[in-house]
Amino acid sequence: MITIQKLTDTEFETPVFEKQDFALEALHGLSSTPKFLPTKYLYDDEGTRLFQMITKLPEYYLTRSEAEILETHKDKLSLLMGDEPFNLVELGAGDGHKTRILVEHFLDQKLNFEYVPIDISQLAVDILINSFQKRYNDLNAIGLVAEYTQGIKWLHKTTHLRNLVLFLGSSIGNFNPNESRRFLQSLWTVLNPDDIVVIGFDLKKDIQLLTKAYNDSQGITRDFNLNLLKRMNEELGGSFNLSKFSHYEFYNVHSGAMVSYLISQEKQSVYINDLKQLFHFETLESVHTESSYKYSDSDIRHMASQTGFKVIDQLTDINSYFIDSIWKTNKPY
Ligand code: AVJ
Repeated sequence: MITIQKLTDTEFETPVFEKQDFALEALHGLSSTPKFLPTKYLYDDEGTRLFQMITKLPEYYLTRSEAEILETHKDKLSLLMGDEPFNLVELGAGDGHKTRILVEHFLDQKLNFEYVPIDISQLAVDILINSFQKRYNDLNAIGLVAEYTQGIKWLHKTTHLRNLVLFLGSSIGNFNPNESRRFLQSLWTVLNPDDIVVIGFDLKKDIQLLTKAYNDSQGITRDFNLNLLKRMNEELGGSFNLSKFSHYEFYNVHSGAMVSYLISQEKQSVYINDLKQLFHFETLESVHTESSYKYSDSDIRHMASQTGFKVIDQLTDINSYFIDSIWKTNKPY
């Protein structure tokens, strides 16, 4: 049985990223010095499509490495969960490609679980649930349209089962270390003592390899980044000329992140109709759009201990490019 539950404002306050929010955040970011735009706006339908293409690029090793890890170590996860019923909770729906590896394995092993993808995007949850429904007749699933921690709180109130929480794909990399700590602490507070968390971290590695992964030869990552300007043109009545901006992305060794910018190629002014405002760009002026933080083994262990979790395994791929870190909620009953 498969259902989709939308947590409503009456029970939980769910933020809806509507045009209004986009307009206000764009106004704020483009009026700041230095300029920035919030990363989450990269993912409209077109951005989501471009990101799916990125995951298949030869240079973008992240998705392939993690799929290899899950394929190799799926037994470890099924053994950890055992025969008792549990919720397989996934934070951020994605296209479910990597999750299928675990879902299929758990079904094969006849584990007693319900799949619970949680995502803020109704569309993402709908698509995911539909594709899983077609593939797996025996799967129990409930899609939650909600913020991550709100979704888990709801689950906690609704069932008392153990949770296996997946936060894959280096999604955590978009948070800076402080934001990650805050997020993981709030996750910790809504979990049961025995719950297991699997977090995908991209590892610090050769700078050339990192740089290539975010500057692919086909220019898909560039298009993904420039799509933010296209989106402002379409949704906010902007007048950005995309050919007057370039994608610039490099590894910041101090912060340990790949950082992504749009760079104005000339001195120019851009009018955004919905904001009734003209924005000035100097030659080579930057707009920050994304940071993707990279971790070392000890960075990960440190993060776990600071947020109340106990590391029980560090699963890595054959190249040691990526880690799926297995954590247990370390709290008294
Ligand atoms: C979806 C955040 C994991 O940071 O690697 C890919 C997004 N940006 N190429 C990442 C992204 C540019 C991706 N995450």
